Amino acid sequence: MEINIQRKEAIEAIKTVRNLKDLDAVFKRYLGKKGEIALVLAGLAELTGEQKKVIGQKANQFKREITEAINGKKAELKELALVESDDMEWLDITAPGKKMSLGHLHPLTLAQRKASEIFQQMGFEVVDGPEVESEWYNFDALNVPKDHPARDMWDTFWLRQKKLLLRTHTSPVQIRYMEKRQPPLRIIAPGRVFRYEATDASHEINFYQIEGLMVGDDISAANFKAIIQEFLRRFFNKPVSVRLRPSYFPFVEPGFEIDMSCVVCAGKGCSLCSRTGWLEVAGAGMVNQAVFKAVGFKPREYQGFAFGMGLDRLAMMKYKINDIRLFYEGDFRFLKQF
Ligand code: FA5
Repeated sequence: MEINIQRKEAIEAIKTVRNLKDLDAVFKRYLGKKGEIALVLAGLAELTGEQKKVIGQKANQFKREITEAINGKKAELKELALVESDDMEWLDITAPGKKMSLGHLHPLTLAQRKASEIFQQMGFEVVDGPEVESEWYNFDALNVPKDHPARDMWDTFWLRQKKLLLRTHTSPVQIRYMEKRQPPLRIIAPGRVFRYEATDASHEINFYQIEGLMVGDDISAANFKAIIQEFLRRFFNKPVSVRLRPSYFPFVEPGFEIDMSCVVCAGKGCSLCSRTGWLEVAGAGMVNQAVFKAVGFKPREYQGFAFGMGLDRLAMMKYKINDIRLFYEGDFRFLKQF
């Protein structure tokens, strides 16, 4: 009887408790070391066998029930404390969601990928080389000896370390590749190049080139013209006329400059092509035997062509962009259009 009254009181006390501290007091009062249950259990020794059994069972049941009720209340109070606390993370599930903006590829990356894809379809392997080069790969092996006036064609960023520089063109990749392989060869090498020069609408101090190299027993300038023409047709998705103008690069003989008919005005003449109807997109030529010698090929055994295309200028034509510097300014108003 006594235990039953205590049970009712305890359950009531647990129900009305408002905080964890008071709940702890209730716990101590009933379940603590000197609490009510402990007293009942301690008194069992003085009881007879039958009484011991009945009271003992009741006391244990009481203990179980109160423990359960206290645990339940504890969880309830903790949850409440979390909701009321100021530093709780506030989540308004009715607020409109934040728009996730998706990134996308830079126009130069798009142009580079497109160009690589077309050359790969024509059987060219895509290779690359370092942006920091030695004088040997950027100049000497390409038949541009020290103190030769031809070196002035490339304004160069020199590094403090002896004889290192930021490559001025992608042509060093030709050398690196030929040092390790034997013809027949058919590669392109897209990449970033650097020149210490003033910028304007068609010149940057760092820009991109695509180097090309095809070497075998009888590769000719006619092969080159066909390949470059087909490349440009696929790149611009329309037929373009190509013209080869004689030019000089120490690593080719003969050398030429490649102009393409302006796709913006269809050759009629506009501001992009300086009213000429033609745009210079690459330097090229038949690989000079001095270059084959530098990489250890037998003299006069092979022949082939090489070219170096300005990727930025191709992209400017493709997307009708009138200033190369827009590619590098990181202006969202420009970049979001691609
Ligand atoms: C070269 O860099 C040679 N290595 C190309 C070459 C390779 C010739 C293999 C023969 C055989 P050039 O300096 O002309 O050549 O540059 C090649 C192309 O890069 C140019 O036709 C032009 O499209 C682009 N280019 C040159 N300078 C800049 C610049 N400052 N900014 C943007 N594009 C440029």
